[in-house]
Amino acid sequence: MCGIIGYCGKQAAAPITFEALKRVEYRGYDSAGIAVLSNGQLLVKKDIGKLDEIEAKHSLSSLPGNIAIGHTRWATHGGVTSANAHPQYDSSETVAVVHNGIIDNYQELRKQLASNGHHFASETDTEVIPHLIEDEMKQGLSLEAAVLATAPKLEGSSTFLAISSLDPGKVVGTRKGSPLAIGIGDHGYFAASDALAFSGQAHQVIPLADTEVVILTADGIEFLDAAGNKLAKESRDIKSKWHDSHKQGYQFFMLKEIMEQPQMLEAAATQDRELFTKIALDILRAGQVIVTACGTSRYAALVGRYLFSKVGKKFCDVVMASEFHYFADSVDKNTVVLAVSQSGETADVIEGVQMARDAGAQIVSIINRPQSLLSEMSDHVIYLNCGYEISVPATKSFLSQLVIFYLLSFSMVNSFDEAVNNLKGISNEVTKAIAWNNEPLRKLSQSLKDKDDFYYIARGINFAIASEGALKLKEVSYIHAEGMPAGELKHGTLALIEPGTPVAVICPDDYTYRETLSNAIEAKSRGAYIIGVSDKKNDIYDFWVKIPKVDELLYPIITVVPLQLLAYHLAVSRGHDPDRPRNLAKSVTVK
Ligand code: G6P
Repeated sequence: MCGIIGYCGKQAAAPITFEALKRVEYRGYDSAGIAVLSNGQLLVKKDIGKLDEIEAKHSLSSLPGNIAIGHTRWATHGGVTSANAHPQYDSSETVAVVHNGIIDNYQELRKQLASNGHHFASETDTEVIPHLIEDEMKQGLSLEAAVLATAPKLEGSSTFLAISSLDPGKVVGTRKGSPLAIGIGDHGYFAASDALAFSGQAHQVIPLADTEVVILTADGIEFLDAAGNKLAKESRDIKSKWHDSHKQGYQFFMLKEIMEQPQMLEAAATQDRELFTKIALDILRAGQVIVTACGTSRYAALVGRYLFSKVGKKFCDVVMASEFHYFADSVDKNTVVLAVSQSGETADVIEGVQMARDAGAQIVSIINRPQSLLSEMSDHVIYLNCGYEISVPATKSFLSQLVIFYLLSFSMVNSFDEAVNNLKGISNEVTKAIAWNNEPLRKLSQSLKDKDDFYYIARGINFAIASEGALKLKEVSYIHAEGMPAGELKHGTLALIEPGTPVAVICPDDYTYRETLSNAIEAKSRGAYIIGVSDKKNDIYDFWVKIPKVDELLYPIITVVPLQLLAYHLAVSRGHDPDRPRNLAKSVTVK
């Protein structure tokens, strides 16, 4: 994780870098910093906290000079301290580096460097990079030559940008693992973890491949391969602009993204019938089908598993991406792996997919962000088309993933068009679920905000919605929550129910209704405060979340929406920023 930015051009670099950092703050926000080169001098400012807090304290954006690198951090090695914030620099303070990744052999490198007289100021793995570059530059190498010599010594993932007062006038970057996009603008050149950072400022983008090196100067960009040979690379136009991503009057992106779900459902359902039919046939013919994903994407996959079974009569397994490689032995060329990832760059997903590819499996990815690492590794890519999702908790991407699984399952029975047709009215139903519940849930959150635990139960196709509701709550409100199949409650968790414990029961009037209700009554008998998410009122609900009636296979698209709103309102009523929950990040590019 972490977001890195570099700029070299004709304008003041620090304000541009600061603005760009704000756009990649979703990648980490426990500390941040900027280093500039001004009149050949290296200046660094960094601290702990979110960008706006650091700006208020240190005026990052008023640093001088036309060359800058910046960083926003999600701590991996070393606590959240100012010393561990990036940019990191060498002993002589001539080289500054921002880094995204984890250097697996940093302890060995640190020992070697220390025995050669280097002093370390931080606990980070990153700090070895400027020290290694310093050694190379002392031998008379240029910054790019020093970067080329340093990169192969770093094991693990290390995408970084460097500047040096010994070779001013340039930013040099290289990639291994985590992404790096290079941008071409009218007044200068950019490097960033995500092209979103410079959209609006740059009109063309060039993705850097693993081990390649880029040199940005005020006059142009140059690419080198790992051996230092010049490379010609093609650029493409940047279509999406950052202004798509403003909050549009909402206090937080999370609420804006929940509210725009009805509009984006249609975009998610606008897919290529041929492609879906081909993928569906491959799934049906495959010896085994494994879906791999993390977090919210995995819960979408769990809904997909029910759809595949119910509609396509095909069983598939859903394996948590961080556990996938422990099953790699059973993956072969008769396996179809469906990788679900909003970002397309989650390290756990990438690792599993790489193993599956090596074993000859067919890879189908379901991704939101275009041109991601995962798309490059896939035989087929299905896009969610839901636009940028800025808030760390996934909301609209989840609904789009549900739509994709719905379309795929119907494609298995050659009914893609029927599925598209069934989805036509769903936007209105989601609009109703929002309109009926937003204000009542805001009020409910006031009375429940001091609860310590929440439980979520559901059955069948809605079970994963219970898990997703609990995940949303944990992520943004920091209240302990668990979601589980309703029938499982009595096998242990029921012991935790006390008078007043909130239990959200996802209980649509479908094939799961009676049994789920019966499990809710068991909880109610132990004093639980029952929040019933249902289209059918029942006296056992202490609070009824009324949802519209829809076809039973479409309920997950409806039932999750009030749970997103409940989590949002609880976060806000407890005084938290739901867009940037503590300790989390949107793109998790480390294992
Ligand atoms: C992180 C985010 C989650 C997300 C998960 C998977 O943990 O905080 O919100 O669900 O990564 O992300 P992906 O981009 O692979 O869907």
